[in-house]
Amino acid sequence: MSAPKKLFIKTYGCQMNVYDSERMAEALGGEGYVETKSPDDADMILLNTCHIREKAAEKVYSELGRFKGLKAEKPDLKIGVAGCVAQAEGQEIMRRQPLVDLVVGPQSYHRLPEMEAKAREGEKVLDTDFPEEDKFEKLKNRPKAKRGPTAFLTVQEGCDKFCAFCVVPYTRGAEVSRPADRILREAQDLVERGVREITLLGQNVNAYHGAGPNGDMTLAQLIWELDKVDGLERIRFTTSHPNDMQDDLIEAHGTCAKLMPYLHLPVQAGSDKILKRMNRAHTAESYLRLIERIRAARPDILISGDFIVGFPEETEADFQATLDLVEEVKYGTAYSFKYSTRPGTPAAERPQLDPKEADDRLQRLQALLTKQQREVQDSMVGRDVTVLFEKAGRFPGQMVGKSDYLHAVHVADCDRAIGDLARVRILSSGANSLAGALID
Ligand code: SAH
Ligand code: SF4
Ligand code: F3S
Repeated sequence: MSAPKKLFIKTYGCQMNVYDSERMAEALGGEGYVETKSPDDADMILLNTCHIREKAAEKVYSELGRFKGLKAEKPDLKIGVAGCVAQAEGQEIMRRQPLVDLVVGPQSYHRLPEMEAKAREGEKVLDTDFPEEDKFEKLKNRPKAKRGPTAFLTVQEGCDKFCAFCVVPYTRGAEVSRPADRILREAQDLVERGVREITLLGQNVNAYHGAGPNGDMTLAQLIWELDKVDGLERIRFTTSHPNDMQDDLIEAHGTCAKLMPYLHLPVQAGSDKILKRMNRAHTAESYLRLIERIRAARPDILISGDFIVGFPEETEADFQATLDLVEEVKYGTAYSFKYSTRPGTPAAERPQLDPKEADDRLQRLQALLTKQQREVQDSMVGRDVTVLFEKAGRFPGQMVGKSDYLHAVHVADCDRAIGDLARVRILSSGANSLAGALID
């Protein structure tokens, strides 16, 4: 038997890309590839890319440039670009960077085995179709290894919302939900391989409406089906749009014990004028009332958000409205970005803000969000949480895991194994994590 070929994948962007990278590794696993942690000994390098902001997209070209020497040393090395930059500018990648052998969009990676074979024969291959066949089904009978206690599972992909700043509807295509039986089968399989916590993924995950036995199902109905899977202890989902936060999902946060008290619900801005120009189709007020209803169902829920500052025509007063909204919500975590002009999106045509002004606003917003994040984390001290252990800590006897609220928790003198759940009393709060002790 010949030695296995080695595959190096580097993943950028969102969790869906992490999930996709795993599927690509499985697809190529069927062709005799094993993963390696270093590009130096790889026979194939795949960059799974993100197009969401300009910087993210530019990274791909600088990273590719770095493989020049390697390719010169190893002419058989194949280099591929996958993900959202591949989808958005596949032709241009091929033109700008001749060392790229293969370009594969997020909807075509089940075709990787054939593409790899063609690339081995010296062909340049590009596939950025949105094919009819189901890429997930095509990949289902791949080698399956034991794995860690947490996993992502894509249930919905693409987006029909067309926020004025966003490339996702173009790179990921129209919103599509996977049928429930396939998701349940995949969840069952993950649990058999050691998974205890599943995060359901979708660019608009709460718009889920996949086919079930009695017609289309909501995300909450899917969660209740997953709730029945023995051995699955925790369910999370991300990312949600405020307008798709249906009553049954809010209610599930209060009644489904496996559904974790954490919700990522991006608002982007606090000014109604800006929200309107962003085509968000909600107001600051409707978002705040929604948060109130969610907290009524689950008072201890940790809310997380995304923000964009410096969107075209954002005035100081508009920005102040964002700060006011943040003050009112009190976020447990948040991601904030300076608006980045994306070619082909509606907002790219509008007059852009002074980048210095946007930088200044980003700093002010981040200072407030960091303060809130720390306050919420500090408020955990003295409370009892459940921790799912994910790895050994740096010190002997120490284990690290995540609380229900997704805080990292370090536990000393811990006799539990990876994949165990335990009740832990939180004793202190550090820069980015909590420390606690096992209860009894
Ligand atoms: N589907 C998710 C997230 C999409 S991208 C949602 O609707 O919330 C993740 C985040 O990146 C967005 O929430 C937004 O805050 C940010 N983002 C998207 N496009 C951007 C742009 N052009 N400039 C800056 N930030 C952007
Ligand atoms: Fe992008 Fe808006 Fe869709 Fe989220 S809802 S993926 S921000 S277009
Ligand atoms: Fe980036 Fe594509 Fe995800 S643009 S954020 S990798 S959907």
